[in-house]
Amino acid sequence: DEEKLKQFFIGSIDQGTTSTRFIIFNGTGEPVAQHQIEFKQIYAHSGWHEHDPLEIVDSVNRCIDQATLAFIDRGHKVDEIKAIGITNQRETTVVWDSNTGEPLYNAIAWPDTRTKGLVRELKEKEGADKLLNLCGLPLSTYPSSVKLVWLINHVAAVKKAYDEGRLSFGTIDSWLLFHLNGKMEKNVHVTDATNASRTMFMNLHTVQYSDELISFFGLDRNKIKLPKIVPSSCPNSFGSMSDGLLKGIKIAGCLGDQSAALVGQQGFTPGSAKNTYGTGCFLLYNVGDKPVISKHGLLATIAYDFGRSRKPVYALEGSIAVAGSGIKFLMNNLGFITHSHKISELASSVPDNGGCVFVTAFSGLFAPYWIDDAKGTIFGITQFTERGHLARATLEATCFQTKAILDAMEKDSGHKLTELAVDGGMSNSNLCMQTQANITGIPVDRPAMRETTALGAAIAAGFAVDIWKEFDELKEINQKDRMIFEPNISKEEGDKMFKKWSRAVEMCRGWLS
Ligand code: G3P
Repeated sequence: DEEKLKQFFIGSIDQGTTSTRFIIFNGTGEPVAQHQIEFKQIYAHSGWHEHDPLEIVDSVNRCIDQATLAFIDRGHKVDEIKAIGITNQRETTVVWDSNTGEPLYNAIAWPDTRTKGLVRELKEKEGADKLLNLCGLPLSTYPSSVKLVWLINHVAAVKKAYDEGRLSFGTIDSWLLFHLNGKMEKNVHVTDATNASRTMFMNLHTVQYSDELISFFGLDRNKIKLPKIVPSSCPNSFGSMSDGLLKGIKIAGCLGDQSAALVGQQGFTPGSAKNTYGTGCFLLYNVGDKPVISKHGLLATIAYDFGRSRKPVYALEGSIAVAGSGIKFLMNNLGFITHSHKISELASSVPDNGGCVFVTAFSGLFAPYWIDDAKGTIFGITQFTERGHLARATLEATCFQTKAILDAMEKDSGHKLTELAVDGGMSNSNLCMQTQANITGIPVDRPAMRETTALGAAIAAGFAVDIWKEFDELKEINQKDRMIFEPNISKEEGDKMFKKWSRAVEMCRGWLS
């Protein structure tokens, strides 16, 4: 059977916040060819963060070409690729002209905080207290809804398109699906339930758009074209590749990257969880087929929806805005290192953080704090402070927020996680993962193959075309050579560090912008 599975291939597009990848997996979940491209981050003003939507499409096409050429080079044929899955950075908002398909503005990326003032006003509006129960998300700068409102209010071309009823809205999945299907030719305009659950336009309980939510944001549903919501694993809703080396191949899976990572880690049973350290860091905890609305600052979201007779599965999510982007900041803005992977070396040049705490609140603070007006703040600097201390404090910031999220999750679910499955770029750092185990006091479990996000999208696509039919068939995938980090400091020491962090968080509230 294993030999047979090695002859089936699935392509996976992973469109993240700072880079795009295309990975071709075989039926046993091994990557056989891949390509990755970084693209431009546009920071026009403090708190603004944009992407060029056409550059994103171009990066996808280039990754597909390069990885497919490598695949062919290894003696394979394109028609051995049975389907394609897409996974993507969530919330990032794209608007385009429904008549021409041209983008009307740059994509506003998920960490962007330009909507801070708008969010403050919306919080005062009647009905604001009902949103969390309807869509699972607290009002913040994070979801797509406020980004879309900003675009309509501030960009003349977007307002005009809205008034004339030719404004198409989408998250990155919808934008890519529109392009990969040949743009206006087929005019595919869909999204999957996981991505839709991040817009703040979707009723989490019915998995349909909610007029109540849309009108809360002052939007007229008749003037905006919203993508149709479909399951994440679907043989016939996502179309097929219209061009290039993979022309004609069906796109059969689509899900937000954090959902994909949960699927890639096989978090299929209620109570399982994963933490992905990408540009940001996101902990998803499977709660089963009914949503749990958080009382402690977490998000309720769709974990995945495999369609057919299966019900959508929900998750509690702890979202941390800054993880890998903190390392990029040390590298690009402060010149501390020349490559991201050198962070561990720099952090290991000192035995501890030397008394420094870095609250990496570049986008305010997300879960479980939701402090819009926090800004990045370093506490505890003296003449003794070296770059190594700050490198450590940067890694620790994500670990502390993970600990705060786990505490909130325990309160919401009444269940204590006994082990943390991890993946994503920063999980490559042994030092960081050891720190994570120490701060949370539970073992951290890291797979050998860390491209679990791309693997999750491949699994969603593979299910749609019947490469696998039951989750049980996946259980051997990516289980070999996992590494476990056991806590190696006392609980008291861990708690002491966390207490200092919590005090630092309180001190960075209310920064005047
Ligand atoms: O919600 C944003 C998230 O989907 C971005 O993921 O891995 O690019 O940080 P990542």
